[in-house]
Amino acid sequence: MEMQRTPKAAAALALCAAAALSAALAAGEQAPPPLALKDLAPKTMLVGAAIDRPQAAGQDPAAVAIVERQFDQVSPENDLKWERIHPEPDRYDFAPADRYVEFGRSRGMFVVGHVLLWHQQTPAWVKAGVDGKPLDRETALARLKAHVDAVAGRYKGRVGGWDVVNEALEEDGSLRKTFWLDAVGPDYVEKAFEYAHGADPAAELYYNDYNLWKTAKRDAAVRLVKELRAKGLRVDGIGEQAHWGVDDPPLATIDEMLAVFGAAGIPVHITELDMDVLPRDPDMWGADLSKQATIRAKTNLYPDGLPPAMQEKLAKRYAECFLLFLKHGVRRVTFWGVTDKSSWLHNFPIRGRVNYPLLWDRDGREKPAFGAVAEALRAHGGL
Ligand code: XIL
Repeated sequence: MEMQRTPKAAAALALCAAAALSAALAAGEQAPPPLALKDLAPKTMLVGAAIDRPQAAGQDPAAVAIVERQFDQVSPENDLKWERIHPEPDRYDFAPADRYVEFGRSRGMFVVGHVLLWHQQTPAWVKAGVDGKPLDRETALARLKAHVDAVAGRYKGRVGGWDVVNEALEEDGSLRKTFWLDAVGPDYVEKAFEYAHGADPAAELYYNDYNLWKTAKRDAAVRLVKELRAKGLRVDGIGEQAHWGVDDPPLATIDEMLAVFGAAGIPVHITELDMDVLPRDPDMWGADLSKQATIRAKTNLYPDGLPPAMQEKLAKRYAECFLLFLKHGVRRVTFWGVTDKSSWLHNFPIRGRVNYPLLWDRDGREKPAFGAVAEALRAHGGL
């Protein structure tokens, strides 16, 4: 019988093993073969990272080496978003996206497409109505179909799974008030899934959002996927972005979210994982520039490096989260970035802070969090 460990106990064990390993290395003992997360993870779990344009073009060799060694899946940080790939009605910029897809394909990785429909990073022309009128249903759907046909169609058979719709839900579980909802009505979500399936029938299709651990949003996502499936549409999974903090959401809440999706028969993908180590403040969102400067000064706590106690806290948090992903059979875990050098969290929710959200530091060195994740995977039964 398999030993049952609580996530906390297992995380503690993982941390001890990681610490023992660092001590052995510091004492000059023979280094063990380097650990690769993709090999330590169960066969049923992909582990990947979002890569940016320079990385996809091979211009960041340190990050590329980490991706090649550690991951069996990639996501595109920006280059498949509408504003990048389809900036004008009759102009597509496929070159960077082609490089991204080829980056993953040539290395035998599972290539994710992100994203077909979103209200952000979408050019103004998509939202504009004809002849100065508000955007109408027909025009909006025609634009969506043309876009999905062109983009998902181009990578047919090469992109393994698409984030079809991103962030369609408000925190209270209602449909987000976006130009898509205004112009088309609530069935824009099913239209997007229908078009995506038509463009690439073999591709997996996901609904992706953030804060799905919040009860109302979580339950709305389950309802949404069930409704889509009841209409005969293909939906392969829910993506929780997982832009989390070191304390929030609590482990019990993550556990519950994964249990709820599991009970509903919906596979879960953790699609944009990172851990913000800096304080968040409700005023950060939409703060004007003068206010931003004050908030930045107050919350940019570690401009010169992450103190050891925080490194350990981050490591423990990562290990505990991975143990939950393993417990619930999460299909994929994608980090939103490779090293701390290029994380979007230096500029979100406000610009110009120094953050430390990933497993490798700015110089591409493994942080304690890397060892802790590796150990969590190993302890679960990897290599
Ligand atoms: C972010 C990118 O990381 C940034 O480079 C870009 O400026 C803004 O978008 N949710 C998503 C991602 O689905 O596409 C976002 O990526 C982060 C939030």
